[in-house]
Amino acid sequence: MTPLLITFSSLFLLATGAPNPDPNPVDANTITPAPTLPPTPTHPLSPRQVAGASGTPILSTLTFPYTALPSQVYPFNVLRGPQSGYNQCGPANASATANCQTLVFNNASDFCLWGSPDPNGSIGDVEAKVVTYCTNPQWGGRPIPDGAIHGLQFMRTSAYIQIVGFIDNSALSLASTETGGELDPHGADLQGNPLGGVVYSLDEAFRDGSEPGQVHNWNLFVGSSVFCLKACFNNVTSPDYCENRYDLVGCNFNMPNAAPNGTFQACEGDLQTPVGTYVSAGQTLTWSMPDPLTTDPPYTPVVPSSSNCQTFQSGGLFTGGASSPANSGSSSASNANPSQTSGALAVRGSLFCVSVIVFGVGMVGGGVIVVV
Ligand SMILES: *[C@@H]1O[C@H](CO)[C@@H](O)[C@H](O)[C@H]1NC(C)=O
Ligand SMILES: *[C@@H]1O[C@H](CO)[C@@H](O)[C@H](O)[C@H]1NC(C)=O
Ligand SMILES: *[C@@H]1O[C@H](CO)[C@@H](O)[C@H](O)[C@H]1NC(C)=O
Ligand SMILES: *[C@@H]1O[C@H](CO)[C@@H](O)[C@H](O)[C@H]1NC(C)=O
Ligand SMILES: *[C@@H]1O[C@H](CO)[C@@H](O)[C@H](O)[C@H]1NC(C)=O
Repeated sequence: MTPLLITFSSLFLLATGAPNPDPNPVDANTITPAPTLPPTPTHPLSPRQVAGASGTPILSTLTFPYTALPSQVYPFNVLRGPQSGYNQCGPANASATANCQTLVFNNASDFCLWGSPDPNGSIGDVEAKVVTYCTNPQWGGRPIPDGAIHGLQFMRTSAYIQIVGFIDNSALSLASTETGGELDPHGADLQGNPLGGVVYSLDEAFRDGSEPGQVHNWNLFVGSSVFCLKACFNNVTSPDYCENRYDLVGCNFNMPNAAPNGTFQACEGDLQTPVGTYVSAGQTLTWSMPDPLTTDPPYTPVVPSSSNCQTFQSGGLFTGGASSPANSGSSSASNANPSQTSGALAVRGSLFCVSVIVFGVGMVGGGVIVVV
């Protein structure tokens, strides 16, 4: 826990103060037809679409079966569009030059992350066009090289699945000094970062028959050689465990964890306290992140209890999904080990996010609000 937050605040002077993205509940049963070109300029504007272009869809409300994704979810030549990559991804085009923008997140051995499409990238420069990097060629992303992931913890709860881990920046084509930022399906124009980026999972909470089902609410931080990714279940809209307005405080506030570097594990976990919410002297308080971030948050995130952790050997974990636990069954909570905790704390405080410039997070002022 360091006061580094203050040191970096000058990075964020360009924040726009645009309206907050509104993580509205999504009706996962509504299938949205593939968008047609060009966008009709006469569509009535949703009140949420304050920063969007007339007639363009709001990314987080679009629904597609995995097998019926259009070649591009956001082909529109407006605002930041069209999207740079494509959404129909598969083993035939999994390569180091793939530009897949459909991310699949299943479990500890089978997941993709967003990374830079350009060599030596920085998230602030490439957030609108990040592409998938995957442990499994099935999903059509760029391969994550063997040995690039040094440890991870997958956590399944009653409201979301989450994975936090340690990865070489270079494996995601990020500069070694890159501290990164947040990617999510909102952004100031509600078209997401990346533009047209969609997320799917074979987890039973999302699975659509034998195919991955769509995850409507998710966020991911990457940079400083760590990553954290959370997929919130579509049936849980309140509280919002995938809140995306706390983009300057990184993994340890948005996804409090005890992920141990050097160990690969999958656990069940209790629910975390939604980011920005904490208990002090018996009262539940809410912290609004000031922007620019001029002070440390007034609380230390509580790492939820975990149970039934399985530990994997790294060799063999990322071989296209086939893996067996090195040891399994019930074990003690993974967050009891102080050395694990300090490893996780390294994740926090370094993930400052230049992407606020595009997100336009409007949480100016901050301060503590008592929630009655
Ligand atoms: C990628 O390959 C899959 C099959 O593995 C195919 O369905 C899809 O159309 C391909 N996408 C592109 C952009 O070539
Ligand atoms: C990579 O990016 C960093 C940070 O922007 C920069 O300092 C470095 O010179 C770049 N390296 C190369 C090889 O371009
Ligand atoms: C949401 O779905 C998950 C997974 O299917 C289930 O475990 C959970 O109980 C559901 N929650 C609610 C509030 O319906
Ligand atoms: C995790 O461990 C690896 C291998 O020991 C090391 O190279 C890396 O710097 C560590 N990552 C962090 C964020 O501490
Ligand atoms: C992850 O999911 C894939 C695809 O369903 C499966 O093949 C693999 O065994 C799973 N791995 C773990 C560690 O659960």
